[in-house]
Amino acid sequence: MKIAFSEIAVPRTGALVVGVLEDRVLTRSGAALDKRSGGALGRAMKSSRFTGAKGQFLELLQPAGLRLGRILLAGLGKVAEIDDLRMQALGGSAVARLNRGGEKTAFIAVDGVRGMKIKAPAAAAHVAFGARLGSYRFDRYRTKQKADKKPTLSALTVMVKDLSGARQAHRPLAKLAEGVAFTRDLVSEPANVIYPASLAAQARTLKKLGVSVEVLGEARMRKLGMGALLGVAQGSANPPQLVVMRWSGGRGRPVAFVGKGVTFDSGGISIKPSGGMEDMKWDMGGAGVVIGLMRALAGRKAKLNAVGVVGLVENLPSATAQRPGDVVTTMSGQTIEVINTDAEGRLVLADALYYTQTRFKPKAMIDLATLTGAIIVALGHQHAGILSNDDDLADAIAAAGTAVGERVWRLPLDASYDDDIKSDIADMHNVGRGRSAGSIAGAKLLEQFVGKVPWAHLDIAGVTWSKAAKPTVPKGSTGFGVRLLDRLVADRFEAK
Ligand code: BES
Ligand code: MN
Ligand code: ZN
Repeated sequence: MKIAFSEIAVPRTGALVVGVLEDRVLTRSGAALDKRSGGALGRAMKSSRFTGAKGQFLELLQPAGLRLGRILLAGLGKVAEIDDLRMQALGGSAVARLNRGGEKTAFIAVDGVRGMKIKAPAAAAHVAFGARLGSYRFDRYRTKQKADKKPTLSALTVMVKDLSGARQAHRPLAKLAEGVAFTRDLVSEPANVIYPASLAAQARTLKKLGVSVEVLGEARMRKLGMGALLGVAQGSANPPQLVVMRWSGGRGRPVAFVGKGVTFDSGGISIKPSGGMEDMKWDMGGAGVVIGLMRALAGRKAKLNAVGVVGLVENLPSATAQRPGDVVTTMSGQTIEVINTDAEGRLVLADALYYTQTRFKPKAMIDLATLTGAIIVALGHQHAGILSNDDDLADAIAAAGTAVGERVWRLPLDASYDDDIKSDIADMHNVGRGRSAGSIAGAKLLEQFVGKVPWAHLDIAGVTWSKAAKPTVPKGSTGFGVRLLDRLVADRFEAK
């Protein structure tokens, strides 16, 4: 789908989308269209339940007196509530409907209305952004899809008075959408296609955007003493990789993003039940977010220094796999007793976090991981979990999440949980106390490897994959975290 901007006019073909405010109040473009059609819009609204509430749509096919194929009225709700997220949702939902309806060309008129939270050019940019996010599909492996199931929309024009303002506001958003789509692609791929070496190869493609990319292989990691990460990898024929991506767009110490990249998590010797095990192809979701985020930051030439580190391994049972009860020595020198080989993400991150922290001395470090099933028990799919050693950083992440519609909820991490990871024979073990506070136990282990760096851990196990489509997040891989961290960077770490 091609997306362009133009000035407001009544198009000669295709579909025209116009906004309607609460209580059936037409926006300026809607009112003009109503007039030209002899009041068709007003009559249609009156004979339906459409009130202009947010998210509502009403479709008029082949309106008399106009050359348009269809008019789509889109509810915007209360003027004072119209913000970037609402405009994104409008863009995403409108495109989904037009695709279902078989439309090929569409125009969306964005009028400024006094009292909106954002100005018309920004509103138009966010409509386009939402349309991009909402029209994402992962169709690579469908070779027999019927024509009537394929999306039809090939051109979308967002119409707005201040064209250049809209184009300017849209430029970084288009790069952000590319980052989100890249993450979604990587996470959607099955584990026979995305394994440590092939995921590292995907990260290498960021070089063309000016990101420096280093890949550490097994030998290098062994020299560094990364016994925890290597212990997870040793059951698989696919060798592990540690990828370091650096974007240098500013001055001073970098902000670091670290991702869990378990390209498939069978559980290892502590094997998972087979029902639903296919979901564990997306256990590299944290790494996927870090790679997509680096792409977005480099794409929009963000004014900061950022480091992305992803630990890539496959967790399989085999004759060479690690056993429950094994003790591994991490790069930090601390030892971990592996009670359960399915609590592998924290083992990978222990070494990845320590490496990142000691090598780059970041001013803040944020990790993302599909770390625990327990976070789904606690928060479902509406919030990611956040656990942190720094209140300011945690608050800033929560605010960024709310602003972009990727919400997080904080869990405690105080010293009263320290004993939960105590081992009888090593410095710590890799599980908590039975079924209690499982997500906190995971974060507690990570905390032992971050030193004094302000750090936050996002447990994204519940939000990385979605079974229900939303306007800007189709079913499947969500890309949750890319928009949030891009926003955090813009609000807190970028030179203005
Ligand atoms: N990758 C899983 C967590 C997970 C579960 C992610 C469901 C997405 C959906 C993780 O490696 C894991 O297996 N965690 C165990 C930890 C336990 C053994 C302490 C879990 O949550 O059961
Ligand atoms: Mn596991
Ligand atoms: Zn896992």
